[in-house]
Amino acid sequence: MRYLVTGGAGFIGSAFVRLTLDTVDAAEVLALDALTYAGNLENLAAAAGRPNYRFERVDIRDGAAVRAGFERFRPDVVVHFAAESHVDRSILSPEEAMATNFMGTGVLLEAAREFRPRRFMHISTDEVYGSIEPPAEADESYPLIASSPYSASKAGADLLALAYYATFGLPVIVTRASNNYGPYQFPEKLIPLMISNAFDGKPLPIYGDGRQVRDWLFVDDHCRAIHAAIDRGRAGQIYNVGGNCALPNLEVVKRLLRAAGKPESLMTAVADRPGHDRRYALSSAKIEAETGWKPQVDFDDGLAVTVAWYRNNRAWIDRVRSGEYRSYYEKNYGNR
Ligand code: NAD
Ligand code: DAU
Repeated sequence: MRYLVTGGAGFIGSAFVRLTLDTVDAAEVLALDALTYAGNLENLAAAAGRPNYRFERVDIRDGAAVRAGFERFRPDVVVHFAAESHVDRSILSPEEAMATNFMGTGVLLEAAREFRPRRFMHISTDEVYGSIEPPAEADESYPLIASSPYSASKAGADLLALAYYATFGLPVIVTRASNNYGPYQFPEKLIPLMISNAFDGKPLPIYGDGRQVRDWLFVDDHCRAIHAAIDRGRAGQIYNVGGNCALPNLEVVKRLLRAAGKPESLMTAVADRPGHDRRYALSSAKIEAETGWKPQVDFDDGLAVTVAWYRNNRAWIDRVRSGEYRSYYEKNYGNR
């Protein structure tokens, strides 16, 4: 099976590439990525050199380059992760999120319409449901109430992908996952930022009162869910993918400080994020019933693995923060 993975050099995309090469018989993988600040080839070092893997630097907004990638590789499955994925950045520069998340998805759907993969996996997020009052949980028919430019651009892309199923019969599946964590996550998101700052003895910025609730999903559990949906999901469907681990931010940060052996006094209240969603809560009953998938990694175990990975990869943190990998790629392979 030939997997074309967009955003393959990012956090979840690279985990998906590694898992696919390690666990799927006769898989061939093409990772496409623009290598923005969030993507770097170090995340794919474990794949480099394998005969059934290759990488191409492609911006998904570039229709000709995307089409050429599809034409050369002829994917059976497209797994579309590429996105501007950080809410705070989408607040600072919404147009980047709109261009990549919405228009870039449209470019990929057009290429898929021409080359007809057996599956087009559109990887989306629980943020499209907005903040949910307790005790409700969002199932896949819950209304879309996006609060940030990021979540609005993802919600728009979800609808566009589903429209390609309805209109053109493209076998699209949309997955909507909760907050992922694990190794190789860019140190701008809550867990890796807090771990990195704690190791450096820097303040840990807690937005507002820190009582916002997120549902935490270990990245490999998310990738296994995507494979379950590719293999056993139905075209035209949406599948929620939650970690069954809803926690307030303060509790997450306290637990990671314990795992890192650092003091709670590092936590510092700062101004809240504009439009900050209070609570995400997902029902994953549909994917569990239809595919048999379930999250396997307990949060404290996953957090221990994650803290240990960041402890052992301090130089990676410094390099991704400085953009060193991108300039390495440009020097060695040209800016293509
Ligand atoms: P990430 O920011 O770590 O990686 C995104 C990747 O996309 C990077 O490698 C980047 O270089 C690439 N990219 C960005 N713009 C591009 C463009 N125009 N063309 C080609 N490549 C481009 O993000 P992530 O956390 O791995 O998220 C991956 C996907 O999963 C996103 O679609 C996101 O919305 C979704 N998602 C993320 C989470 C989470 O908690 N991180 C949860 C649910 C869904
Ligand atoms: O829910 C899925 C989403 O999870 C994904 O779609 C996004 O791509 C991913 O970035 C993530 O979005 P969040 O906004 O939930 O994640 P973030 O790590 O930015 O923030 C998690 C919570 O922690 C949120 O309530 C904001 C808070 N926070 C975050 C940062 C970066 C802080 O209190 N301080 C911080 O410095």
